[in-house]
Amino acid sequence: MQTLTVEAVDPRDDAAFRRWFSVPAVAHPVDQPHLPAQVLSESLADAPPPGDPYDRWHHLIALVGDEGVGAARIELTSDSPNLAYFTLVVRPDQRRRGIGSALLAAVESWALGVGCAVALSETTRPLPVETVPGAAFAEQHGYRAGTVSVLRTLDLPAPDQHLTAADPGPVPGYRVVTWTDRCPEELLEGRAALNAELGEIPIKGGWAGGTGPESSDDPAAGPHRQPEVWDGDRVRAYEDRLISHGRRALCAGAVHEGTGELVAVTVIARHGAGRPHVHQWGTTVARKHRGHRLGMLVKVANLRQLASTWPDARQISSWNGATNASMIAINTALGYRAVGDGTDWGKVLRSS
Ligand SMILES: CC(C)(COP(=O)(O)OP(=O)(O)OC[C@H]1O[C@@H](n2cnc3c(N)ncnc32)[C@H](O)[C@@H]1OP(=O)(O)O)[C@@H](O)C(=O)NCCC(=O)NCCS
Repeated sequence: MQTLTVEAVDPRDDAAFRRWFSVPAVAHPVDQPHLPAQVLSESLADAPPPGDPYDRWHHLIALVGDEGVGAARIELTSDSPNLAYFTLVVRPDQRRRGIGSALLAAVESWALGVGCAVALSETTRPLPVETVPGAAFAEQHGYRAGTVSVLRTLDLPAPDQHLTAADPGPVPGYRVVTWTDRCPEELLEGRAALNAELGEIPIKGGWAGGTGPESSDDPAAGPHRQPEVWDGDRVRAYEDRLISHGRRALCAGAVHEGTGELVAVTVIARHGAGRPHVHQWGTTVARKHRGHRLGMLVKVANLRQLASTWPDARQISSWNGATNASMIAINTALGYRAVGDGTDWGKVLRSS
């Protein structure tokens, strides 16, 4: 048998990245049959550029000879420099040969080398599958299970009677605003403040392309996660990064009429014109404005914007913390149904 090696991959090297991507591409129908596969450019869509002040990604490939048999990506964010979030996958026909373990050792060693103290990952499961290899693998390597999130999908276009029945609007004292891609300048500071409440940087990217939990609070927050620091410049840098990679975003928000502040926001993202599957990203309502059904208000407004802007979209998916009763109630009322779930895993690599 040829020797197993693990190498870093530069995502700007087209051939090297294609070889890396071939691993999650072939594993996807086995591990994630409930979700449409990502295309190669989508896998890179949220990648920070080299030297980005906020985020850094590192790709590793496991090779047998010249053939890619395992792939990992480590995501770091400046807000929580001691956390390394990673995805790791082994080609289905190469499993139970120690490749995952070798790749994981390389992931942990790289994370320790850049100063991280904690490694985080996620396993995902299509329902009604009972258990997935990743859970036994993670436990075997000393990871402890954390938050569980549920993945729900809604076929599009959403039935108009569902939207009308669910729509709480108008809500006295608030008005709805919608925009695409770039937040209006006058709402930018409010947008940054809402991002700080939820945290929108995709540190939980996962193989599914779902980006960030949709929550009224961050269900992935642990004792090692620091609050995210956002200002208007960071919002703009993030928007520019998505646009330059071909991500499009439809956004709806609620403005408090008394102050003119943006106090709720929700985002639907799509990669590439014509992709039938779109993603529900974060929905946040500022804490002091909760209890007025603003979450539902902005989600209904954005689903209506989705129907008119991208009438060819066929399905939307949304991740929610399994205990996030308010967001689950909203999604259930809109007609979403559960198709899978995900478990967060964490391991302390060194005491800080
Ligand atoms: C999880 C995954 C990476 C394991 O890759 P792998 O190359 O098969 O892993 P290894 O051969 O190094 O397995 C190491 C140990 O993990 C455990 N393990 C791995 N797969 C298992 C399975 N299907 N059932 C039970 N235990 C399993 C075993 O203890 C195994 O040791 P053993 O083979 O000597 O019994 C692979 O199944 C995969 O890509 N799954 C989909 C993505 C995923 O879940 N990633 C994990 C994120 S933490």
